[in-house]
Amino acid sequence: VDALVAAARGDGVGQAPAQRRTDPWPNDPYPSGTGVGERYQALRALLSGELSPRDVVATLSESGLRGMGGAGFPTGKKWELVAGTDDPVKYAICNADESEPGTFKDRQILADQPHLVLEGLLLGMAVVGAELGYVFIRHEYGPEERVLRAEIDALRAAGVVGPDACGSGRRLDLEIFVSPGGYILGEETALLECMEGHRGEPRNKPPFPGNYGLHGRPTLINSVETFADVPVILRRGAQWWTTQGLGDSVGWKFFAVSGHVTSPGVYCVPMGTTVRALIDLAGGVEGGKAVGAVQPGGASSNFIGPDQLDLELDFGTLAKAGTMLGSGALVVLAEGTDLLAAATNVLRFFRNESCGKCVPCRVGSTKAHTLLRDQLDTGSSTLDDAQRAQVLRLEEAMRKTSICGLGQVALGPVVSVLGLDKGGAAARPQPRPGGAKEQPGR
Ligand code: NAI
Ligand code: SF4
Repeated sequence: VDALVAAARGDGVGQAPAQRRTDPWPNDPYPSGTGVGERYQALRALLSGELSPRDVVATLSESGLRGMGGAGFPTGKKWELVAGTDDPVKYAICNADESEPGTFKDRQILADQPHLVLEGLLLGMAVVGAELGYVFIRHEYGPEERVLRAEIDALRAAGVVGPDACGSGRRLDLEIFVSPGGYILGEETALLECMEGHRGEPRNKPPFPGNYGLHGRPTLINSVETFADVPVILRRGAQWWTTQGLGDSVGWKFFAVSGHVTSPGVYCVPMGTTVRALIDLAGGVEGGKAVGAVQPGGASSNFIGPDQLDLELDFGTLAKAGTMLGSGALVVLAEGTDLLAAATNVLRFFRNESCGKCVPCRVGSTKAHTLLRDQLDTGSSTLDDAQRAQVLRLEEAMRKTSICGLGQVALGPVVSVLGLDKGGAAARPQPRPGGAKEQPGR
């Protein structure tokens, strides 16, 4: 299990990006082989006045695009909120500090589509009124950082960014901020603290960064995939985007698929694809085994069982099923895997990565992990009633009182496994306010 989780988490960190599994990527509006001169058309349209900031926000809202970092906040609404703040200094930040175990899809997007990520970030800057935009990138993503730096150099050379971006008279500039490391820095307010030179601990929210962000200024923060989706939608149209999803879902979605599958990697599929179809695309379970359990949205998401493989991968369906789309990372465990051991390993990760700022997370994660580890050390993978009750009490306390998502969801996967191990949907946890929440919007 250790090896499995380590493989899922690292996926060759520091080496070549994960192998691309859907070829060519179906979303890119720009023909392959084109350069800065042919790309960045949505940005040029905005800077020339052909498109207005209001048009951009309206198109994003119409498209139903939601934050792909995990929480699914409506993108058009976020951009509108930041654009509407009255402050002469604003910032925009692309959160590329992807560190959720099993999650490596942003890494592939940065490697293959840096032009879409940067165009989305620049569009965000121009819409909200920020002159400076940052990419906050995970420090192990060296190859992708180099790709980004080369693209930014090309943008400067072509005059797309700089003191007179695209001849518009507006200053738009980009910088890369390399994360000093630590999972919690991907939490947007810990990221801001870190960029300000403070210890990387989450702030209480609200205020949200859109009102009070970097150096106390309104700051637009979106993830890599969200920013990359923006020029796709502006070039191809909101209508096109809404028709790309399956059923009621909209758009394309990148997933990192790992665990006991034959072909782990990054896949781009229509939103609303079923869990089963994505596992099939990844070659099915290794050795022809059956599925034991799946985490559909990275390590923070609750496990689902083999009877739930027909669930559609979209925000609403997974939230209703008591789990979440989360960070777009499907981790598949084959039948016969010790699920409690796997979930305890996930908990160990969260215990290690807890920043320690609040007591419920710091103490609760240690206490729960110690209980589970000691039980596993006896050779048993089941808990007695008293142990179950204690785990459930700790989960409730952490979920209700932790400052940030890490503490709120740390015990969710363990509890979901306890539900699975009791059997049947009735035993499964219900949607939790901390993690598997349904956000407003489509
Ligand atoms: P959140 O729900 O607090 O916020 C989501 C976004 O919407 C944030 O940018 C927030 O500023 C904004 N927002 C929310 N309510 C707002 C309001 N009323 N006004 C203005 N803006 C508002 O969720 P959070 O804690 O930022 O993210 C949790 C998600 O992150 C989880 O669902 C998890 O899947 C994902 N995650 C992803 C990781 C990765 O490596 N990609 C790692 C860990 C977690
Ligand atoms: Fe830090 Fe955990 Fe509290 Fe988040 S919940 S602020 S990670 S101690």
